[in-house]
Amino acid sequence: MAKSAGKIRAAELYTNLERLSRAKSHSENSDDEPLDLSALANQPIRLALDSSKTLRMKKFRAQLFYQWLAQTFEPCRAADIGGGKGLISYLLLNSGWDPVVIDPFDQPLPDKYKDITSERRVKIPPGDRVARITAEFEVEHAEGFDLLIGMHAHGCNAKIIDAAAKYGCGFVLFPCCVIDEPFYPRLGVHWLESLADYALFKKQDFFPFRLNFKGQNIGLCHVGKCRVKESSTTG
Ligand SMILES: C[S@@+](CC[C@H](N)C(=O)[O-])C[C@H]1O[C@@H](n2cnc3c(N)ncnc32)[C@H](O)[C@@H]1O
Repeated sequence: MAKSAGKIRAAELYTNLERLSRAKSHSENSDDEPLDLSALANQPIRLALDSSKTLRMKKFRAQLFYQWLAQTFEPCRAADIGGGKGLISYLLLNSGWDPVVIDPFDQPLPDKYKDITSERRVKIPPGDRVARITAEFEVEHAEGFDLLIGMHAHGCNAKIIDAAAKYGCGFVLFPCCVIDEPFYPRLGVHWLESLADYALFKKQDFFPFRLNFKGQNIGLCHVGKCRVKESSTTG
């Protein structure tokens, strides 16, 4: 029962995000006006390609997210904000991207990961590194980056949107919980919807997408100055 209620809520949330993403921007004096969802039209659901026929476990989110990034964007200079151990950056680096982890805690790369395309375990050689900035993310860090990545980036989601608005970067947000953010969702409003609304307030259009794993699997993408692959479905 609780599970199906959760599924229904996730489906409603996704539909709302799709509708929100169709709102081009707020009117000039709309800061405190609620968004009129009924005025917004539907758009197709964008699902990331994955070979698995069933939902994968949440622990593979980094690999799925990497796969989606590599399918969607041309390689670029990317800030992996709140990147933790840096697996997403490591995978991007090996695909010709120029990634930098920005995280106040300096952590080593994991020693292995599962390649979800070959379904094999891959060892990461002990000497392998990714570039890191060991600091709390600030808007000014974004200067010079094309894409700002926030996978479960605690305390950084609103700042990532601010930074994209200031420097024209693209962003991909994959939030989990609301920690140390400058605002909180109103009662009954999902954190993703609040972020979507904030992105529109900052005139950053976006589209929602969904990755193939269990749990909160919806992200928001703003293309900004990034180059999108011709084969991707963002257009
Ligand atoms: C839940 S972990 C996510 C790690 C990784 N992105 C993932 O999805 O597995 C949250 C990360 O955010 C980092 N973090 C917390 N506050 C931060 C801040 N102000 N700026 C940048 N990173 C921050 C933490 O150090 C931690 O590595």
